[in-house]
Amino acid sequence: MNRVHIKTYGCQMNERDSEAVAAMLRARGYRIVASEDECDVLLLNTCSVRDAAEQKAIGKAGYSAARKRRNPDFILGILGCMAQNRGATLLDRLPDVDLIVGTQKFHRVPDYLDNLRAAREAGIPLGETIVDTAAEAGSQSTIRDHLDGPDTQVCAFVSIQQGCNMNCAFCIVPTTRGDERSRPMDDIVRECEGLVARGTREVTLLGQIVTSYGRRDYAHAAGVSPFVQLLERVHAIPGLERIRFTSPHPRGFREDLAGAFGRLPKLGEYVHLPVQSGSDRILRAMKRPYTRARYLEIVDSLRAAQPAMAFSTDIIVGFPGETEADFEETRSLCEAVDYDMAYIFKYSVRSGTPAAAMPGQVPDQVKEERNRVLLELLRAGSLRRTQALVGTVQEVLVEGPDKTGLRFTGRTRGNRVAVFDAAPRLAGSLVPVEITRASVSTLYGDLVLADAGLQTALAAAPL
Ligand code: SAH
Ligand code: F3S
Repeated sequence: MNRVHIKTYGCQMNERDSEAVAAMLRARGYRIVASEDECDVLLLNTCSVRDAAEQKAIGKAGYSAARKRRNPDFILGILGCMAQNRGATLLDRLPDVDLIVGTQKFHRVPDYLDNLRAAREAGIPLGETIVDTAAEAGSQSTIRDHLDGPDTQVCAFVSIQQGCNMNCAFCIVPTTRGDERSRPMDDIVRECEGLVARGTREVTLLGQIVTSYGRRDYAHAAGVSPFVQLLERVHAIPGLERIRFTSPHPRGFREDLAGAFGRLPKLGEYVHLPVQSGSDRILRAMKRPYTRARYLEIVDSLRAAQPAMAFSTDIIVGFPGETEADFEETRSLCEAVDYDMAYIFKYSVRSGTPAAAMPGQVPDQVKEERNRVLLELLRAGSLRRTQALVGTVQEVLVEGPDKTGLRFTGRTRGNRVAVFDAAPRLAGSLVPVEITRASVSTLYGDLVLADAGLQTALAAAPL
């Protein structure tokens, strides 16, 4: 009765929330199992950003409800954004769900499961579904427990903030994640130190709009924003090799942050910089507070700080009112920035958001075609950029064996995946890898063994 499987949809924030729920459940004596078929409790940690993500989770929950009819003790829970967005109305379509827990109540999941199981064990018939989607003060600080994960994580996610106060016209996140709230800087630094003491070498600082971190809680110091102050403090942790963050907002990229990429080598040469559209008209309709020219200026300032800077982005095609000319602006912006990677989304109507009611909704086949055009452009650009790395030596942080278990993977400073032969004991080390071959998204190469320390490491461990 205590085997739990958590299935996660959506973003890294959800991955991190699921990890935290798993850690809390382990501490309560639950077993987290990798196989959905072997669990007694199935928790779906859901995403609401696009309709397709919600439909996927609803489909899965419907399918699991059949299992529940065969085994009345089976417990099914829906957590996270869709739980928050739809609450008890989910029961209209999914009457068999036992637990619906919103985004500010993840820490209550162990208690609720204990209650449900105790009722089952006492033979008490199915009660009401537990629904908890209330707001909770201080919930930004409840996601922190990495303590009892099974393995050392070379790369770990650290939540620094919850919620978002922007009002991008297309976006449901402010509804599902609530007001922007930041964790105290000291807590974050302490968590990072703890992770490093247990073997973590890279942290990714997570939030919906990390560049706004702490703006209500900390003052600027000599023109340096609280977010950059946080980066400086995390950067100072000995033994930590790399710092990433996601997602920032273009409006947070002032001189202090661009300058940080010049001063703080652990940041590497990579930024995810969501643009959404290359057309000023559409940006305005989206309520994104920057122009195409300003965005390109930010890209230039980051390349001035670090010439090798690699960029990824988020783009929405088919926002209401997007014409061919607007789309052409997005296409040409992609060429101008020369992204390594982009997430392209077909605009999805989210009820309750301003864009849902806007005139000029774009037909699906037009969205499809614009999506295709961008994907093709980005694929070609990405391949050109990876191939330009063939013959170079890249600093790679070794994460562990790849899917085949035969080779190792890691990432370059520019956040490209690299695959190479190594030894298990090199996990967590920075190694030089000479790139010999490249596909659209992966670099292949060989360890450079000029370094005597590395040679000893490899000689001591069988490949
Ligand atoms: N600040 C968060 C935003 C979460 S939403 C982050 O960047 O991680 C992630 C991306 O989903 C957004 O950047 C946007 O490109 C896309 N998105 C959000 N709402 C959408 C919608 N209604 N339709 C299509 N894509 C959307
Ligand atoms: Fe969504 Fe815009 Fe915030 S994309 S998460 S409302 S910055």
